[in-house]
Amino acid sequence: MKDIKIETTLTVFETINELPDDMAALMQKAIDIRLKAYAPYSNFLVGAALLLDNGKVITGNNQENASYPSGLCAERTAIYYAGSQFPDAKIVKMALSAGPKAKGTAVPIPPCGACRQAISEYEVKQELPIDIYFMGTTGKVVRSKSLENLLPLGFDRSFL
Ligand code: THU
Repeated sequence: MKDIKIETTLTVFETINELPDDMAALMQKAIDIRLKAYAPYSNFLVGAALLLDNGKVITGNNQENASYPSGLCAERTAIYYAGSQFPDAKIVKMALSAGPKAKGTAVPIPPCGACRQAISEYEVKQELPIDIYFMGTTGKVVRSKSLENLLPLGFDRSFL
């Protein structure tokens, strides 16, 4: 018997202003699209902006439904749109901004478990890590150089 240790390194930026200019611009797109989310039930708004290797930027936000489970998170709205419109493009960077509509939050909000699984599918498919930056509505931005850092021991196609 032996223990295994799984380590994750994340980078924390104090504000969006500390990001490189191109990344700050992508995060601003995530913030802008967050404000257009359709979230009348949770009033929790999430925005996602993706930079593809063909230069396109894809944005998405959460879309809720009166039948709650029929809604979809911002991350999956964006990556499925990217996957459907540009099936051969790779997702290079992902910016996420999330928080309650009324008061916002300075707590960096990571993608939910289901979205981590969905993002993982694209990272495996494209054989290129996705550089992920996430924040609340203000304050610190956390960077993970790969989805793998956020989903250790992930389930992927190699098991099938
Ligand atoms: N949500 C996202 O869009 N992404 C996440 O990673 C976490 C949760 C949405 C789903 C729902 O519309 C609202 O936030 C509250 O859970």
